[in-house]
Amino acid sequence: MTPGPIGIFDSGYGGLTILTHLRNRLPEHDFLYLGDNARTPYGPRSFEVVYRFTAQAVRTLFEQGCPLVILACNTASAKALRTIQQIDLPKIDPCRRVLGIIRPTVESLGTLTTSRHVGILATAGTVRSLSYPLEIKKLFPDIVVTGEACPMWVPLVENGEATSDGADYFIRQHIDALLSRDPDIDTIVLGCTHYPLLYDKIRRYTPAHIQLVRQGDYVADSLADYLSRHPDMDASLTRGGTTRYLTTESADTFRNAAAVFLPDTPIHPRHISLTESDAVD
Ligand code: DGL
Repeated sequence: MTPGPIGIFDSGYGGLTILTHLRNRLPEHDFLYLGDNARTPYGPRSFEVVYRFTAQAVRTLFEQGCPLVILACNTASAKALRTIQQIDLPKIDPCRRVLGIIRPTVESLGTLTTSRHVGILATAGTVRSLSYPLEIKKLFPDIVVTGEACPMWVPLVENGEATSDGADYFIRQHIDALLSRDPDIDTIVLGCTHYPLLYDKIRRYTPAHIQLVRQGDYVADSLADYLSRHPDMDASLTRGGTTRYLTTESADTFRNAAAVFLPDTPIHPRHISLTESDAVD
């Protein structure tokens, strides 16, 4: 396999919160970020549609030379990862790999929660998929899991309203709803990569004794561990310390919005189309 960058995919800007941690953890590696900003949000979309869009994105990142793709999106990880790994990858290229971000997040929970009551704040798609409760049950059957869908949160971030006064109403609404369903929760997973952008407000409306889990560090540690256990894959990744950006929106729109999430980082995105014809059969 020709060496190439690590592909990072998200439905929009949220994956940038993961990319930052990956770059800090693996500063010598090259990264290629793809945001499907023109079709975000994925959260309310059906399994079928999220799978189709995600498969198009994965195939595009492979065509751009990525030997390894991280789905830096919980919704895509919940709804598309398994099918892509089990059905599509063997047909496209069995040497390439696609990894998600739910499993590394779940692995962290065993030592984080004391009450053994965990809340998941995520998109409607991720909550409906039951991916978090199912994964948690496999590893920590004693943990009680409550999921709360927050359908307005991704649009707040994507529309530049993350720090606006109007956002507070929607943030508080879902934290209160989650805690009224299970008052014993001591750990809340921000189960959507967009949510770290809302962290200050989420923290403000969450009681101080409850810890908030942001995924970035856990995903970065997990990827570093994966690469140390798979030296062949690591050897097929280029090391130049660069990051390039692709977006299905206009390059200007992406540059302006991404600058808010990655201040001090020069971003020169390129527009790309993900079309039906790119879909995996
Ligand atoms: N950032 C994505 C996630 O982690 C979801 C965003 C969306 O709804 O498109 O789930």
